[in-house]
Amino acid sequence: MAAFQPHTKLSFIFCVFLVQSLILKQGVSVNGGGITSKFVRKVEKAIDMPLESDVHITQGDHEGRAVIVSWVTMEEPGSKKVIYWKVNSKEKKSASGKVNKYKYYNYTSGYIHHCTIKHLEYDTKYYYQVGIGQSPRTFWFSTPPKVGPDVPYTFGLIGDLGQSYDSNATLTHYEKNPTKGQTVLFVGDLSYADNYPNHDNTRWDTWGRFVERSTAYQPWIWTVGNHEIDFAPEIGETRPFKPFKNRYRTPYKASNSTAPFWYSIKRGPAYIIVLSSYSAYGKYTPQYKWLEDELPKVDRTETPWLIVLLHSPWYNSYNYHYMEGETMRVMYEPWFVQYKVDVVFAGHVHAYERSGPRLLVMTEPQPDYSAFREASFGHAIFDIKNRTHAYYSWHRNQDGYAVNADSMWFFNRCWHPVDESTGVDV
Ligand SMILES: [Fe+2]
Repeated sequence: MAAFQPHTKLSFIFCVFLVQSLILKQGVSVNGGGITSKFVRKVEKAIDMPLESDVHITQGDHEGRAVIVSWVTMEEPGSKKVIYWKVNSKEKKSASGKVNKYKYYNYTSGYIHHCTIKHLEYDTKYYYQVGIGQSPRTFWFSTPPKVGPDVPYTFGLIGDLGQSYDSNATLTHYEKNPTKGQTVLFVGDLSYADNYPNHDNTRWDTWGRFVERSTAYQPWIWTVGNHEIDFAPEIGETRPFKPFKNRYRTPYKASNSTAPFWYSIKRGPAYIIVLSSYSAYGKYTPQYKWLEDELPKVDRTETPWLIVLLHSPWYNSYNYHYMEGETMRVMYEPWFVQYKVDVVFAGHVHAYERSGPRLLVMTEPQPDYSAFREASFGHAIFDIKNRTHAYYSWHRNQDGYAVNADSMWFFNRCWHPVDESTGVDV
């Protein structure tokens, strides 16, 4: 019993805090015996979180004025509507979406809803409600500032998340980081359902429920990784990316892409290009042709920061997944140099490495291009300050929430070019 004492004490402290919060927020009546709060909790029975409680949002257009809301209902499809309203506004609007189900071997999904809310105002907090007529649930998000060169914006960076104890630590550290990410750039490998027999798609449900605490409140920009392929001909599943495609939406049509796995968005001061390491990227392929047309469209006077997301890194000095990104690097790196891409974020290796901005030189154990590496889990923050400077920091799970394990200033390649070999402005 003694072992439980500290826990009891903690619970008690929490209760005191809770009561104080209620006093601050609700009306109170004071009499001789103390305080009786007028707060009355909801009368309905508390409902357990179902497996399929997956609510997530992502950007829904090219400019940041639309949001795609996705959620799952279990027994029946229910309403396809999302009700939304601006903070401090009584005017409620609604948008209607689509619902689908899919089967994967012996698994049948719940009703998966996707609804795009359009014509939102920039830099505004909105509330939204899903599950209308069933078990309505309310969340909120903030739209980004109007696209422009000198609006600060902070991105979080997460990849290879999965749903292990480490995954939970990574997400908690991201949430608790004193530098608050406003949008997550997710560099692929979501649920790792394919690690289970028959790619048990229930793991996609549990992953959605796990990350909902963040994905329902800020957009996650999706990149596909190898764990999204779910190609399993031995059980008759031959359509690559089937679970991902059914569950997650990307605004690919807004950037004239022909597939949801490669696309672009503008968000605040950033132009973000998402590529697929696991879709054809050779010459004449749809992805190649799209990227060839896309890069010249980026206007650095409007969006100074050009960011690329992909899953399999082009520079990786770990043995794990060594050289897997090499053929894509050979295809696209000359374009990235020509168009002055500021930074490429990748995942896949389950360890941290920051490479210097130079071409690949193979020298082991630690090659020249590898500026910092360690086999740690964590998240990163890319904090864009203005058109010339962005601060990048890496946060390990084993450290305190505010600790930077590695960091560097990024100088914009168009607005503040620096010669990397000398560190001198050019
Ligand atoms: Fe991977």
